[in-house]
Amino acid sequence: MSHNVSHLQRFSVAPMLDWTDRHCRYFHRLMSQHTLLYTEMVTTGAILFGKGDYLAFNEEEQPVSLQLGGSDPKALAECAKIAQQRGYNEINLNVGCPSDRVQSGRFGACLMAEPALVADAVKAMQDACDLPVTVKTRIGIDEQDSYAFLTTFIDQVAQAGCDTFIVHARKAWLSGLSPKENRDIPPLDYERVYQLKQDFPELVIAINGGIKTYEQCDEHLQHLDGVMLGREVYSNPYLLAEVDRRYFGSTRPVLSRVEVIEAMFPYVEKHLASGAKLSHVTRHMLGMFQGLPNGRAYRRHLSELSPRGDATLKVLEDALKLVTEFRPAE
Ligand SMILES: Cc1cc2nc3c(=O)[nH]c(=O)nc-3n(C[C@H](O)[C@H](O)[C@H](O)COP(=O)(O)O)c2cc1C
Repeated sequence: MSHNVSHLQRFSVAPMLDWTDRHCRYFHRLMSQHTLLYTEMVTTGAILFGKGDYLAFNEEEQPVSLQLGGSDPKALAECAKIAQQRGYNEINLNVGCPSDRVQSGRFGACLMAEPALVADAVKAMQDACDLPVTVKTRIGIDEQDSYAFLTTFIDQVAQAGCDTFIVHARKAWLSGLSPKENRDIPPLDYERVYQLKQDFPELVIAINGGIKTYEQCDEHLQHLDGVMLGREVYSNPYLLAEVDRRYFGSTRPVLSRVEVIEAMFPYVEKHLASGAKLSHVTRHMLGMFQGLPNGRAYRRHLSELSPRGDATLKVLEDALKLVTEFRPAE
């Protein structure tokens, strides 16, 4: 299957470790056919030397972009090749993660200080596969937060052949802040990303960080090619239901919340039949009725009962009944 990935950049769900696993992506895909979905970051070490299969996904999740963590061009190229064989649609390099564990491996956000290495890595990956290779980055690191620092990085990596950047519009502090704090404390600077698009009009530039509403997306899309949402989609997944109509010209009917949950039943049953736990899937579905009558009861029921070893589909069916059979007290 081939997709025009630049076009798909218009709306994407951010890579989120421990959150955007394949169950989450399957669930998100039911609500939007066109949103580009990202994997969690997978390190080259895990792919090349790990014992498990870190690249497995369901065909129904497509289009999916694999986010790689690494800095050795050879290892990244090898992984890009494997990713293409496995059917991914895009390779994305993580140049935004500030965690200590990642820094000790010399990848993630600290790579912003090594544009030549990132350029080599991009080139090596492109030579090894036919997939688009994109980069997710920040606007700066530590004291290196000038616009010139950002443009030097983008320019060098673009010259190596990368034409698509997703920019988390805040810098990262490489020491002193936890990864979580690094997603909230450094201030957002959307203007800087708009400026980047003005100065590099030929590049596809998507923006990320703190986006919560369609109105905000619309505003960003006046300046840029795409928006990437992370935490808001995860906690309020039904936001995805309107995306295809709003941003991809789709005329397909929008599924209701209840229809989406029901459409998960066969997937859940298959998952359980393979001997796995209900909560692996349902933990991504807790926010589905956020803000609606009995949305909390649904959430509580699912989060309390799904983790039990013997939990069956009935837990999800019962949680859904709490919402669908809700009648306000007379
Ligand atoms: C739980 C969690 C895990 C994350 N893991 C990754 C990751 O693996 N790779 C990455 O590039 N960014 C990761 N991020 C950062 C997000 O991709 C995104 O850049 C950030 O959350 C800001 O966007 P938002 O405000 O829309 O959430 C993670 C964020 C969260 C909340």
